[in-house]
Amino acid sequence: MAPFTVAFRLFAAAVLIDGIVADPVVSRAPSGAYRFAYEKKTLTDEAVAQLSSEEQKLFGFDDRAVGAGLSRGSRECKVYPGDADWPMEKTWDRFDELVDGALIPTIPLASACYKNWGVYDPAKCAAIAKSFTDPYLHEADPTSNMWPIFQGKTCLAFDRPNGTCSLGSYPTYAVNVSSVAHIQLALNFARNANLRLVIKNTGHDYLGKSLGAGALSIWTHNLKNIDFVENYKSDSGYEGSALKVGAGATVREVYQVADKHGVTALGGICESVGYAGGYVAGGGHTPMSGYYGMAADNVEALEVVTADGRFVTASNSSNPDLYWALRGGGGGTFGVATSVIIRAHPKMPIVTSVFSFKSGGNITNEIFWQGLRKYFEMFIPFTDAHTYSYFWIWATNGTLEFQMTPFFAPNHTIKSFNELVKPWFDHLHDLGIDFTPNTTLHDSFYPAYNANWGHDMVAGINAIPGNRLFPRGNWEDPEKFEKTFAAIRDHSMKGKSLGGYHQAPRNRLNIDNAVSSAFRHVITFLIGAAIVENAENATSADMAKAVDVLTNDVLGPWRAVSPESDFGGSYLNEANVMEPNWQQSFYGVQYPRLLELKKKWDPKSVFYAPTAVGSEEWEVQDGDQGTQTQNGRLCKVQEAR
Ligand SMILES: Cc1cc2nc3c(=O)[nH]c(=O)nc-3n(C[C@H](O)[C@H](O)[C@H](O)COP(=O)(O)OP(=O)(O)OC[C@H]3O[C@@H](n4cnc5c(N)ncnc54)[C@H](O)[C@@H]3O)c2cc1C
Ligand SMILES: *[C@@H]1O[C@H](CO)[C@@H](O)[C@H](O)[C@H]1NC(C)=O
Ligand SMILES: *[C@@H]1O[C@H](CO)[C@@H](O)[C@H](O)[C@H]1NC(C)=O
Ligand SMILES: *[C@@H]1O[C@H](CO)[C@@H](O)[C@H](O)[C@H]1NC(C)=O
Ligand SMILES: *[C@@H]1O[C@H](CO)[C@@H](O)[C@H](O)[C@H]1NC(C)=O
Ligand SMILES: *[C@@H]1O[C@H](CO)[C@@H](O)[C@H](O)[C@H]1NC(C)=O
Ligand SMILES: *[C@@H]1O[C@H](CO)[C@@H](O)[C@H](O)[C@H]1NC(C)=O
Ligand SMILES: *[C@@H]1O[C@H](CO)[C@@H](O)[C@H](O)[C@H]1NC(C)=O
Ligand SMILES: *[C@@H]1O[C@H](CO)[C@@H](O)[C@H](O)[C@H]1NC(C)=O
Repeated sequence: MAPFTVAFRLFAAAVLIDGIVADPVVSRAPSGAYRFAYEKKTLTDEAVAQLSSEEQKLFGFDDRAVGAGLSRGSRECKVYPGDADWPMEKTWDRFDELVDGALIPTIPLASACYKNWGVYDPAKCAAIAKSFTDPYLHEADPTSNMWPIFQGKTCLAFDRPNGTCSLGSYPTYAVNVSSVAHIQLALNFARNANLRLVIKNTGHDYLGKSLGAGALSIWTHNLKNIDFVENYKSDSGYEGSALKVGAGATVREVYQVADKHGVTALGGICESVGYAGGYVAGGGHTPMSGYYGMAADNVEALEVVTADGRFVTASNSSNPDLYWALRGGGGGTFGVATSVIIRAHPKMPIVTSVFSFKSGGNITNEIFWQGLRKYFEMFIPFTDAHTYSYFWIWATNGTLEFQMTPFFAPNHTIKSFNELVKPWFDHLHDLGIDFTPNTTLHDSFYPAYNANWGHDMVAGINAIPGNRLFPRGNWEDPEKFEKTFAAIRDHSMKGKSLGGYHQAPRNRLNIDNAVSSAFRHVITFLIGAAIVENAENATSADMAKAVDVLTNDVLGPWRAVSPESDFGGSYLNEANVMEPNWQQSFYGVQYPRLLELKKKWDPKSVFYAPTAVGSEEWEVQDGDQGTQTQNGRLCKVQEAR
């Protein structure tokens, strides 16, 4: 029989068996979970049984891969291209047939800029270079990533005909998945053949988590479905409207559907970030956090392919421990989420206010800092009033500029907003600081969002960012506040800029999940960065120097005033990949339980991502690149002998 026919029958069987469930409403589980059409095309035991016994070993399930609680079984290194164990061409071809031709060998996004791929085309290169900062360019590509530093900068979008473009950290193959069966087959193949596996949704991740040299990648981009469910009842006690969001949908797509149906969905400020992938898995902070906490607190159920290749629901009553871990425990760690069901909330009016002021003339730096100090001092009343802000303090050439972009006040009126900020604004006026707030009342979240955010820019090659979450306790204790404010001020006075938020998601919905304890205590979240000199041709020494500046000069003083023991920490989704003590810093008090659950749900380490739970057992052997890239073989860390 021609292989094609076998592949066809395999899926005919899969669809037949799982396709019996015609009406999702009737078939709803206690969790209220149901499946999208692409989630009904699953790999079944019957379908696997139709494969040859050799093929069953490669593409079949492993019922010992979950629940064993042992980390034995993960071999010393994942197989790497060129190794004797690397699957033969005909095996890849067979795999491609089984996934309906969705296997894509990687061609780097910027290959047209170099002759060594045989597709050199200066006009095409110029077009790619021109839109390289557009996140959607990278999203539409199976393997591209928005942070080329972690790819190893091996194929940048510069016209360099004589240069060499190599795959760097790009996976060797990606599967353009359009069904759960494709995900199960890719996952089974990776586990059974000991291949490195990565999951790429948008490629937004800052730390290289959606990259991996020599890997097979599950590319979820085309799983775009979003449903509005008007009357949803979950197994956690939630009753109300909800959205079911496919793994490939972006924050903006979710906002649009929510807005159209008269509700608010929680998302971040970057429109092109994926929703159900890294964002929710890492916790997900949001301008609405003053009412509803973290995005992960609003997740009622997830559909997930686990390390054994099985497809399960994770909710309060189905696999509750997996459900716990998937909400805050980080992406690419416990399973592949194919969709999430989130709570939707009523629309509410939002007041936003945008303004800026700077030092110079009569406004000495001293007066500037007095004005800012009042703002920082008010973070307790501001967060208690459910508000959030996004701001920048630019330090250039000895002048300081503050930009409020914007102050975000859900469920406020202009009057209540003005009363809230009056002590601060009065103080600024008393100091002679001139500013003109543009304060606007919006009917609801989406118009407020659109007036202030969108138009994301990514893929800079010269900045490496990191962040710190500062606890409210530092505001309650005057001595700690002095030290905290001094650390922030010193940072700017050294000529370094910063971005920040005041926000306090706390545990507003009283949910038990894996969201880091640092987010339950945070009152302000600051972002700093280091600059890589000579970015295009930076040596590993240049890179190491920038990493050292970020880790020690930028983040060191902030870390010192907000230690983990006081619930300080760092947001794992936007962090410095070289953050010391990342287990406590990123996951807070949740780390020990998360590690236990990692061992239970992924005892063979099918999933790996840098700084993910359990990743300390592995290392990427990328040579000396000055920072941790994903450009190398993935191996178990050898104990010192
Ligand atoms: C400009 C910008 C603004 C941002 N603003 C915010 C913000 O306001 N709030 C906020 O919380 N965050 C924000 N982020 C951070 C964002 O949440 C993270 O970058 C997040 O990891 C992106 O997820 P993704 O799925 O789009 O990215 P990817 O890079 O594709 O994936 C990120 C990680 O999630 C894993 N993953 C992806 N899909 C799945 C899946 N289906 N199942 C399991 N694992 C999966 C990947 O393996 C990887 O480890 C921002 C980032 C940028 C660049
Ligand atoms: C590339 O190499 C060729 C041949 O060695 C040379 O003629 C050409 O000038 C080089 N181009 C660039 C842009 O360096
Ligand atoms: C991925 O698959 C979708 C169908 O699900 C198809 O429309 C799209 O063109 C494919 N993309 C690539 C890059 O192959
Ligand atoms: C959710 O699960 C917890 C723990 O299993 C249980 O105590 C609780 O009753 C469940 N909630 C509902 C509404 O069933
Ligand atoms: C700045 O100070 C000078 C005198 O020091 C004063 O005349 C002037 O009015 C001040 N300007 C502003 C904008 O306050
Ligand atoms: C900083 O100052 C230098 C020299 O005075 C000038 O060339 C540069 O344009 C200034 N930069 C900014 C951002 O103002
Ligand atoms: C919004 O404010 C109104 C008026 O103060 C209040 O009645 C309502 O409960 C608030 N909404 C939420 C979600 O708290
Ligand atoms: C004030 O902000 C609103 C959006 O919030 C915008 O439409 C308007 O143009 C702004 N006005 C000024 C004067 O900048
Ligand atoms: C980096 O090196 C390439 C090749 O030598 C050169 O063409 C390019 O100008 C250099 N880039 C910078 C920013 O110096």
